[in-house]
Amino acid sequence: MKCRVCREPAVIDIRRHNANFCRDHFLRYCRDQVQRAIDEFEMAAPGEQLLVAVSGGKDSLAVWDLLLELGYQADGLYIGLGIGGYSDVSGEYARAFAEQRNLHLIEIDLRSEHGFDIPTASAVTRRVPCSACGLSKRHLFDGAARAGGYDAVVTGHNLDDEAAVLYGNVLRWQTDYLGRQRPTLRAANGFPRKVKPLVRLTERETAAYCILRGIDYQVEECPMAAGNKHLRYKDALNEVEAQSPGTKHDFYFRFLRQAVDRFVDADRDASTLEPCVRCGSPASGEVCSFCRLIERTADARPVPVEFLTRRKSKK
Ligand code: AMP
Ligand code: FES
Ligand code: ZN
Ligand code: ZN
Repeated sequence: MKCRVCREPAVIDIRRHNANFCRDHFLRYCRDQVQRAIDEFEMAAPGEQLLVAVSGGKDSLAVWDLLLELGYQADGLYIGLGIGGYSDVSGEYARAFAEQRNLHLIEIDLRSEHGFDIPTASAVTRRVPCSACGLSKRHLFDGAARAGGYDAVVTGHNLDDEAAVLYGNVLRWQTDYLGRQRPTLRAANGFPRKVKPLVRLTERETAAYCILRGIDYQVEECPMAAGNKHLRYKDALNEVEAQSPGTKHDFYFRFLRQAVDRFVDADRDASTLEPCVRCGSPASGEVCSFCRLIERTADARPVPVEFLTRRKSKK
């Protein structure tokens, strides 16, 4: 196996591009793919201040590293979700990355700053944990970007994530969610711009990027996400991809080219949002869903994550 560019021994094969690369040309390929996504979807301009939401996992650390390599200015934001040892370790990876490179990392701790954590919110609302988790993360990303005057929030969503979410939304024709699946959501209605520069790279590629760049990351998956629908959709798409390389890419990028404009983004396109009376962030009712979550969990006794994962494994 030889590198497509220099014919030296290759370290990775990328079947959907029918290409193999050596270390240096693979790293260049990753940078090129990210720059191409940024340009194509107008994610960021030179000189803008970006805020990268870092979970301590491979994708968000890779995107932070790639943006800096490409010359962008980017700080990090880590949210302590209170998911037991998983969150403790994730925070350590995010902190270590920032410290080694002398980068600015903003930290928000859900439990000490807002009085709840994800396992407790999940038990109180009786919804899947990812729903309270997603809602809280979005709220805190947006708030931190507004407070710090950042031009855009960056997340580490990759091609596998976006194709799996699209697959789930199409299976149920969730048209309200389809409208939010662009890799760039423009700033509007008090929401900051949101961008996903890794949409042209797969999970396998971001993991390889981290290993080749010597970036240590949290390898464990969130214990609360184990067995969820999103992971099953990823498995299903991987099976198709193994038979027909390139399917995942086409599924997502043809949707962007041919269909996404048919759907509205309720957060950005609607004109009915008003500031939440408690926290001021854009809301469809008087009080935003994050402030309602604070209220609902206020009197709850903290629920340890093991309680929820044990219950799930018994099912
Ligand atoms: P997930 O929803 O866990 O798949 O994560 C998607 C993206 O959200 C990651 O790539 C990060 O950019 C961001 N993210 C996830 N967890 C956190 C966290 N605890 N703090 C900050 N950002 C996060
Ligand atoms: Fe959100 Fe696991 S990271 S539920
Ligand atoms: Zn090479
Ligand atoms: Zn609010």
